[in-house]
Amino acid sequence: MKLLVTGGAGFIGSNFVRYMLEKHPSYKIVNLDKLTYAGNLENLKDVENNPQYTFVKGDIADAQLIAQLLDEHEIDVLVNFAAESHVDRSITEPGIFIQTNISGTQVLLDAARTKGIQKYVQISTDEVYGSLGETGYFTEETPLAPNSPYSASKAGADLLVLAYHETYGMNVNITRCSNNYGPYHFPEKLIPLMITNALEGKQLPVYGDGLNVRDWLHVQDHAKAIDLVIHKGESGEVYNIGGHNERKNIEIVELILERLGKSKELIKYVTDRLGHDRRYAIDPTKLTEQLGWQPDYTFETGIAETIEWYLANEAWWRSIKSGDYMNYYSKQYGEP
Ligand code: NAD
Ligand code: DAU
Repeated sequence: MKLLVTGGAGFIGSNFVRYMLEKHPSYKIVNLDKLTYAGNLENLKDVENNPQYTFVKGDIADAQLIAQLLDEHEIDVLVNFAAESHVDRSITEPGIFIQTNISGTQVLLDAARTKGIQKYVQISTDEVYGSLGETGYFTEETPLAPNSPYSASKAGADLLVLAYHETYGMNVNITRCSNNYGPYHFPEKLIPLMITNALEGKQLPVYGDGLNVRDWLHVQDHAKAIDLVIHKGESGEVYNIGGHNERKNIEIVELILERLGKSKELIKYVTDRLGHDRRYAIDPTKLTEQLGWQPDYTFETGIAETIEWYLANEAWWRSIKSGDYMNYYSKQYGEP
């Protein structure tokens, strides 16, 4: 099988590329990535010389390039991870989210349709469902009710994918996963930000009352689910992905401090995120029952391994936490 993976130099995409090269050594993988602030070829340094793997720098919104790649590499399946992915950045600069997440997806869909590839898989998010109260879960039937420019752009893309299925009969799948964590997670997101700030002795900025709930899944278990969807997903179907690991933000922050032997005095409650969704929780029954998925990680083993990874890979995160990152950080948190 020949796969075009877009956004493969980011957090989840790079873990997925590595997972697929190990699991399916005969597959060929082309990774197309624009290398925005979030894309990093260091994330795939260990596979760069694998003859089954090719990297191409480019934009998913470049129709000519996409058509050329589909032809040249005789692509069977396109898996779209490429996106602007950070909610906070979407609140300050929504424009690029519309351009990449919606227009970029439309360009990919059009190219996939014109070239008649076997399958298109859109990597979406549970955030398209909006926010839950204290009980209940997101199922695939939960109405879309996104609250941030980021989640609205992802919901827009999902609707386009489903429209291409209905209109042109394209073989598509959408996956909607909960919050991922694991190696190569960019340190603007909660878990890597808190681990690296704690290691640097910096304050840990917790939004609002710290009681918002996220449902965490190890990135490897996400990759495993996408692999199943590629091979066994029914045309036109959406699959939620999550492992029933709900945690309050403050519990995670305290766990990280405890494991690193750092003081809780580093915690700083800061102004809440605008439109901050209160709770996410996934019902993964469709994926477990229809496709036979089960996660390998518990949250406890996954977070312990992840903290170890950041301890062992200080050069990776220190090189990111400089330059442009520091400009972003001081704008977002009002301090260096
Ligand atoms: P990320 O920000 O780490 O990586 C995004 C990648 O896309 C980067 O490598 C970036 O360079 C690339 N990219 C951005 N714009 C591009 C463009 N126009 N053309 C080509 N490449 C471009 O994001 P992530 O956390 O790895 O998320 C990947 C996907 O998974 C996203 O679609 C996101 O919505 C979805 N998702 C993320 C999570 C999560 O917890 N992080 C959960 C569910 C779904
Ligand atoms: O649910 C899936 C989504 O998870 C993905 O679609 C997004 O791409 C991904 O970024 C993530 O979105 P969240 O907004 O849930 O993740 P983030 O790590 O930004 O925040 C997690 C929680 O932690 C959220 O309630 C906000 C809070 N938070 C975050 C940051 C960065 C803080 O309290 N302080 C912070 O500094």
